[in-house]
Amino acid sequence: MKRVAIGVIGTGFWGENQVRVLRQSRMADLVAICDTNEKRAREIGTKYAVPWYTDLDKFLRVSRLEAVTVCTPTQTHLKVGLLAIESGKNLLVEKPMTGEERAADRLVSSARKAGVKLLVGFIERFNPGVRAVKKMLTQKIVGDVIIATGRRVARWPIRIGDVGVVKDTAIHDIDAMRYLLEEEVSAVFAQTGSLRKHSYEDYAEIMLRFKEGTTGFIDANWLTPRKVRTLIITGSDATINLDYITQDITLEDSKRLVKPYTPWAEPLRLELENFVTTIINDTKESPSGDDALRAIRVCDAALKSGKTKTLLTMAN
Ligand SMILES: NC(=O)c1ccc[n+]([C@@H]2O[C@H](COP(=O)([O-])OP(=O)(O)OC[C@H]3O[C@@H](n4cnc5c(N)ncnc54)[C@H](O)[C@@H]3O)[C@@H](O)[C@H]2O)c1
Repeated sequence: MKRVAIGVIGTGFWGENQVRVLRQSRMADLVAICDTNEKRAREIGTKYAVPWYTDLDKFLRVSRLEAVTVCTPTQTHLKVGLLAIESGKNLLVEKPMTGEERAADRLVSSARKAGVKLLVGFIERFNPGVRAVKKMLTQKIVGDVIIATGRRVARWPIRIGDVGVVKDTAIHDIDAMRYLLEEEVSAVFAQTGSLRKHSYEDYAEIMLRFKEGTTGFIDANWLTPRKVRTLIITGSDATINLDYITQDITLEDSKRLVKPYTPWAEPLRLELENFVTTIINDTKESPSGDDALRAIRVCDAALKSGKTKTLLTMAN
């Protein structure tokens, strides 16, 4: 079987997880890592026995390297991503793909022109619980979906300093809802705010109207002592509760409550396998740069709505 020669750029908190998973992969050959912080690059390179670099240009010239993951802070994704594209690498850029729509647009058009694959790290699409919920929705087990309610809360992760809770956290729910409902957002209303421990907003309550009338509601904050990540799908016939962390599902109607069994699997492993097989089989990217752009637009609308206290309609 062909193995993709891959490298990780940015080996901080999340990049280390990618290094761990790729090191064990039978589909990928982790050939190098790069982090501008020499201490960190050496530490991760030594721990996982992978050649390490601090100079991105040198790293991108490593022979055989054909794909990279970008796990640097969000505000560096455009610069790092463009360099990777210019050197002909396929890339998986962590969410949010960029902090601004214009920058995301540049990455998408540059990747298209260069003929390289560009995927975005919307990891919840690979959560087996989300996959099981998607199957139930396709089978119309809940009837018509009325509302999808997402809750994603925790304490502020101090290392995130370049975007707020909407683009860092709520963006996962925005994409998961687009993926599950297979509909685009047509209007957004949000209340956002900051307790000023962080330079950006640290709480947001976002209401989405999807094109066919379904409602999405997202409660995201960095104020809650315990990490909670849940999704409730309320349908005309039944309700589904998903815990994104445990991947447990409850399906409930007026007569029964069942807990369908879905074997637990690490979403990051599935996400990286999808990246690698997209390259090997030369298939369409999913989640794509366009998915990333659409989610950023919804985030921007939520942030603007939070400031102006108005309902914003989306041009799709
Ligand atoms: N998909 C998910 O569930 C998930 C989870 C956590 C973080 N993330 C995303 O991953 C990204 C990184 O987050 P993190 O928490 O790991 O941050 P982090 O600060 O822990 O790590 C970032 C690393 O990038 C390095 N770096 C900075 N600029 C660089 C450059 N130009 N070239 C090479 N290395 C550079 C830093 O030295 C640091 O080690 C963010 O975009 C974040 O949103 C995604």
